[in-house]
This record gives sequence, C-alpha cells and structure tokens, in this order.
Amino acid sequence: MSEPIVVMGICGSYDLDSANGRMLEIVLDKCKELGAETVIWDHGARPLPLVGAEGCWDDPNVKDFQEMAISADAFVLSSPEYHGTMSGVMKNSLDWLYSKHTSGKVFGLICTLGGQTSNNTLNHMRIAARWIHGWVTPEQIAVPNIKEAFNEDGSLVSDDINSRVIGLAASIVENTGKLRK
Ligand SMILES: Cc1cc2nc3c(=O)[nH]c(=O)nc-3n(C[C@H](O)[C@H](O)[C@H](O)COP(=O)(O)O)c2cc1C
Repeated sequence: MSEPIVVMGICGSYDLDSANGRMLEIVLDKCKELGAETVIWDHGARPLPLVGAEGCWDDPNVKDFQEMAISADAFVLSSPEYHGTMSGVMKNSLDWLYSKHTSGKVFGLICTLGGQTSNNTLNHMRIAARWIHGWVTPEQIAVPNIKEAFNEDGSLVSDDINSRVIGLAASIVENTGKLRK
C-alpha cells in the first residue's frame, strides 16, 4: 500500500484561533477522514519574516516552513480577504515558496470575508499558486459574512459551505493521488 498523502495547511491569519484557522481545521479533518495525514504551519508560534528583511535568509522558521512544504504532497491555503485581496501574511507565506517546494502539487483554496462573497482573493491566490507551479483544484470555498459563519461549537452554519468543504477535501485527496509520483 502507498504512503498516505500529506496535506499542509497555510493560514493567512497570524493566529490559528481565527476564522481561517478554523476553516483549515475543518477541511484538514475531512482530508484525514479520506486517509490523508495533515500538518499546519502556525504563524503565531513561528512567524515568517518579510521576504528581504534583515536576517531573513538565515531565519530558522523559514527553513522549517520550506521543509514542511517539501514534505507535503498538497496544500490548503485559507486567507481572509483584506482590501479585496489575500492578507499580507498569506502573500508573504507564498513568497517564501518556490517551485522547488511546490511544483506538481495540488492546492485547495479558501477565503473568508467580513462582507459578501467575492472571488477576488481566491483568484489572486490561484495566480500565485500557478506561479509556483501548483495545480489548483477547481473546487474552492468563499465564506461570506464571517461573523455569522460558525455555530458556537465551531461547526459551519451553512449546509452549502459544508458541502463545498466535502467537495474540496475530496478533490484535494483524489487529485493528489493522481499526481503524486
Ligand atoms: C485590513 C482589513 C481589510 C479587510 N478588507 C475586507 C474586504 O475587502 N472585504 C471583506 O469582505 N472583508 C474585509 N475585511 C474583513 C476580514 O475579511 C475578516 O475580518 C476576516 O475574514 C476574518 O477572518 P480571521 O478571523 O481569520 O481574521 C478586512 C479586515 C481587515 C482587518
């Protein structure tokens, strides 16, 4: 039997105790149910310096982040929409990844919005993922009106978004199985 695939979550919010941290947890749990192993980068505990900042090229957090990416077969990116695009935390995370870490690997995309659904952040992340030679799934999730999106127990209120979670996780696991060498 082949090794389980490894799916890495990257959060566009600093704190995993956030809407995007929760969305990653929900999607990664579904990937686990489908047989994947999952890892998640914790920016709050191990922040990445801005690309180009003094000392950034030797930062141990950057090295470990890139090694986690090398060990992953697929990625889930979950970003808040900030001013119509991905957060700086997400963009800077992607700036630390090159095709040698990500080439030929599957990417699934999620964004959360304070307001109404928009595809801007999803489209911008899709472009960045393509630039590092990722294969982005057609399934993607935008979670609007984020303050009303979760029940008290952390589950999603919307059945439609729940079914998108199932579709996204299934697509990531299935397509990673097809693409993995
Ligand atoms: C600087 C900033 C810009 C924002 N811009 C937008 C925006 O353009 N559209 C929108 O719907 N929500 C916007 N929001 C709301 C965030 O998308 C929302 O707070 C976030 O999705 C919540 O996720 P989190 O708990 O992971 O931070 C903005 C919030 C901040 C702090």
